[in-house]
Amino acid sequence: MKNHLSIFIFLSILGINIFGSLQRSVVVALPLYTSSRWIVDDEGKRVKLACVNWPSHLETMVAEGLSKQPVDVISKKIISMGFNCVRFTWPLFLATNDSLGLITVKQSFQSLGLSESISGIKVNNPSLLDLPVIQAYQVVVKNLGDNNVMVILDNHISKPGWCCSNYDDNGFFGDKYFDPNLWIKGLTRMATMFNGTSNVVAMSLRNELRGSKQNTNDWYRYMQKGAEAVHSANPNVLVILSGLNYDKDFGFLATKPLNLTFTGKLAFELHWYAFSDGKAWENGNANQVCGSIVSNIMRRGGFLLDQGWPVIMTEWGIDQRGTNVNDNRYLNCIMGVAAELDLDWALWTLTGSYYLREGVMGMDETYGVLDWNWCGIRNSSFIEKISALQTPFQGPGLSNAKLHKVIFHPATGLCILKKSLLEPLTLGSCADSDAWSYTEQQQLLLPYLCLQADGLGKPAKLGIICNNNNSKWEAISDSKMHLSSKISNGTTVCLDVDSSNNIITNSCSCLKLDRTCDPGSQWFKIVNSTTIFQSNIQVAAVWMTNSCMDDKIAIWMTKFKKQ
Ligand SMILES: *[C@@H]1O[C@H](CO)[C@@H](O)[C@H](O)[C@H]1NC(C)=O
Ligand SMILES: *[C@@H]1O[C@H](CO)[C@@H](O)[C@H](O)[C@H]1NC(C)=O
Ligand SMILES: *[C@@H]1O[C@H](CO)[C@@H](O)[C@H](O)[C@H]1NC(C)=O
Ligand SMILES: *[C@@H]1O[C@H](CO)[C@@H](O)[C@H](O)[C@H]1NC(C)=O
Repeated sequence: MKNHLSIFIFLSILGINIFGSLQRSVVVALPLYTSSRWIVDDEGKRVKLACVNWPSHLETMVAEGLSKQPVDVISKKIISMGFNCVRFTWPLFLATNDSLGLITVKQSFQSLGLSESISGIKVNNPSLLDLPVIQAYQVVVKNLGDNNVMVILDNHISKPGWCCSNYDDNGFFGDKYFDPNLWIKGLTRMATMFNGTSNVVAMSLRNELRGSKQNTNDWYRYMQKGAEAVHSANPNVLVILSGLNYDKDFGFLATKPLNLTFTGKLAFELHWYAFSDGKAWENGNANQVCGSIVSNIMRRGGFLLDQGWPVIMTEWGIDQRGTNVNDNRYLNCIMGVAAELDLDWALWTLTGSYYLREGVMGMDETYGVLDWNWCGIRNSSFIEKISALQTPFQGPGLSNAKLHKVIFHPATGLCILKKSLLEPLTLGSCADSDAWSYTEQQQLLLPYLCLQADGLGKPAKLGIICNNNNSKWEAISDSKMHLSSKISNGTTVCLDVDSSNNIITNSCSCLKLDRTCDPGSQWFKIVNSTTIFQSNIQVAAVWMTNSCMDDKIAIWMTKFKKQ
């Protein structure tokens, strides 16, 4: 890594953009379609949406962060962190109320008393300052397009401001700020505005329906209207629909499907945070909590995958300081689910800090991938961890590799690797994973070899005699994420990871009741894969940490040129 870094600095000084060569080449033939549960491109090849949410729906109605960094720098950071898409939020009134949409960026900030942000925009994005806020929104979409970033336009709320509560009058059709006809007008306006903008690949029609007015009759009535309106104004975009109760519930669709005039363009979005279930993760046994919450989520929304619809997890995320136990346990569980189902997703959030959120100027976003200055990565270990989820494991048209298994370790985002026959099995990039198979006899096989338990605290082995109990691996515990086997004296052991990331077997931990322990290191998922994928993302992610230094070099170079 060190060598690479100095080469990087050297090339940066020469003004060579090394990120360009590191990025995955994004060859997506737009527009996108759906093919059963998958999102595919114009050639029928799977496109996995690995998005990050970029808020632009708060009081200013301006994409956050533009006072901290030039829009093009932010777009490039998004790509270099491995995301291929942005869920870009907008408030309805931006599109329906000209006295809001047509005020300039400067006026918007002035009316909120955000003079410091104005100075920041003057420095970082001077050309935006006197544009109407609706045009500033278009400029950001355009810049994302220039950087090969796909965009989901997300109608997040009606009245600009932080979202969401049951009492904010923006929750459901008929609420004070949620007139269904005005909503359809706004959707139509945005769909029309971006008809022909090829990187706008989808529109999510309304974020997190909620509150006392919720009912399924109105859901069908207005969601169908909204979907048809968007589709006729812009037949290229995917239409993404939210469920009830903060986008957690689609249970009603199990018995009564939607009735739309178009096909191949409909997807659903689900939201799932740790705090969706209060403090359940912290206060319960992680295996039991993971098991029961996942089965709930499958019953309320995940079942749509089996019915042949894409389900995009458009909000999830954690406090990246790593100190929130509730979030940390949830993360290990959700990573397992996201890998197993190979979900499309959008992380909350890109934001390092907000211009103004809930009355606080410059509020830090602990769930944001960028730091307060929108300069470096808040926590690069988090980006490395989720990088395996940024590329598809399976889906139509990806490669000719045979269907096989990889053994994914959610706590690290890595997979079990065989380095050589002489070295212990270890964790490494899923991109380098061997092609495992998992038989009906519960054996985990590589060609001519099987995974074996050798003893408590000892490395798991690859052997050739595969009919003993120590070659049988059963997914146990309520989470079904412990892989357990029996050693020769009959003791049950579980696959685990030691401090050097070697694969060992230990006593199975936290199987029941215990709320204090964290089974994360023993959680694995056997995941279907058809890809032998090449990924440079991890390398890029590590380098990104130094992007602030990169800015300093840029400043130094300008000085140098002047001399
Ligand atoms: C448009 O927004 C302005 C400013 O918030 C507000 O005073 C006005 O009532 C809104 N107009 C409509 C038609 O909602
Ligand atoms: C959207 O753009 C397409 C061309 O991409 C055009 O054929 C169609 O008429 C446009 N639709 C509307 C409603 O403007
Ligand atoms: C679906 O909608 C069409 C009109 O768009 C209508 O003719 C048809 O009866 C509806 N089907 C169902 C099952 O409601
Ligand atoms: C990043 O996350 C890890 C793991 O959750 C945590 O241990 C670490 O302290 C975090 N680093 C920072 C800078 O917040």
